[in-house]
Amino acid sequence: MIEIKEVSKTFIQRIGGSYKALDDISLTIQKGEFVSLLGPSGCGKSTVLNLVAGFDTVSEGTLQVNGKKVTGPGADRVVVFQEHGLFPWLTVLDNVAFGLKQKGIGKKERHELAMEQIKAVHLSRFADRYPHELSGGMRQRAAIARALAMDPEILLMDEPFAALDEQTRLILHKELEEIWMRTRKTILFITHNIREAVILSDRVLVMSTRPGKIKKEFVVKAARPRDSADSVLHHVESSIMDALADELEKVVREETGDEYSIKKNDFSGTASDSLGGGI
Ligand SMILES: Nc1ncnc2c1ncn2[C@@H]1O[C@H](COP(=O)(O)OP(=O)(O)O)[C@@H](O)[C@H]1O
Ligand SMILES: [Mg+2]
Repeated sequence: MIEIKEVSKTFIQRIGGSYKALDDISLTIQKGEFVSLLGPSGCGKSTVLNLVAGFDTVSEGTLQVNGKKVTGPGADRVVVFQEHGLFPWLTVLDNVAFGLKQKGIGKKERHELAMEQIKAVHLSRFADRYPHELSGGMRQRAAIARALAMDPEILLMDEPFAALDEQTRLILHKELEEIWMRTRKTILFITHNIREAVILSDRVLVMSTRPGKIKKEFVVKAARPRDSADSVLHHVESSIMDALADELEKVVREETGDEYSIKKNDFSGTASDSLGGGI
C-alpha cells in the first residue's frame, strides 16, 4: 500500500528562488490497485512518481509504502519510463536478466526467469536481438519485462507509452491489462492521455497545475477485460474532460495572454482524448 499524506514539494531553482511543484497531495493506493495520475505537462505527475520511487524526498508531509517511510529506492518498487532505458550493448534476454544478475542469481536461473517475463510480453522470438533491432513498442515491452523480472510489489510507470504510435499503444494497453490481471501488481501509472488513463485504471486522479494538486478522483467501474466500446468508459472520459476544461482554459490564458481565447464549452464533453504534448 502506498500512502501519501499532505505532501508538498518545493524545488530550489537554479535561477534563484523556489518553485512549489506539489501542494498538499494526499493519496492512498491499495495493494493490487491500478491508479492513474492524469494532468497536463508540468503539473507535477513525475514529481509524485519520483517521490514514491524514492528518487527524491518530500518537502512536507509523509510518504509511506507498506507502513514504512520512503527514504530511497527499494526492491519493492520498479519504474518504467517513457524512454525504455535498455542497455544498447545487451540483448533483450540480457537486459531483462540484468537486475537478476545484480542480485547474484546464477546464469541458468536468471535466464529462465527472464524468458518467463519475455514470454509474458510476447517477445520470445526476439530474445537474442539488440534494442536497436526492435520497434518502439517492442522496446517498451522489453522494459516492462525487465521491470517484472525483478518481481516488485509496485510498478511505477511514467508515461510509458507516450512516444508510441496510436495502434501500438492500443496493443500495449491490452498487454498491460493482461499482465496486471494475472499478477495484480500495484500500479501507479502517469499519463496525459485521458482515454489511456480511463481504459487502464481502477481510479483516475486528475491533477491541476501551478501548484500541482489533486483536483478530482474518478472511479472507473467498468468490467475487465475492458471493452473500448463500453459506455461506462465513455461516460467517465467525458466527465474528466469537463473537469479538465477549467484547467485547459487556465493554461491557454497563461500561455497566450489576450491573444487567444478559449471558453470552457469548447472543451467540455468532447470526444477529444489527449491533453496534447505541449500543454
Ligand atoms: N529538479 C527540479 N528542479 C526545479 N524544478 C523542477 C524539478 N523537477 C521538476 N520541476 C518543476 O516542477 C514542475 C512539475 O514537473 P513534473 O513533475 O516533471 O511535471 P509532469 O511530469 O506533470 O510533466 C514543473 O514546472 C517542473 O519544471
Ligand atoms: Mg512527467
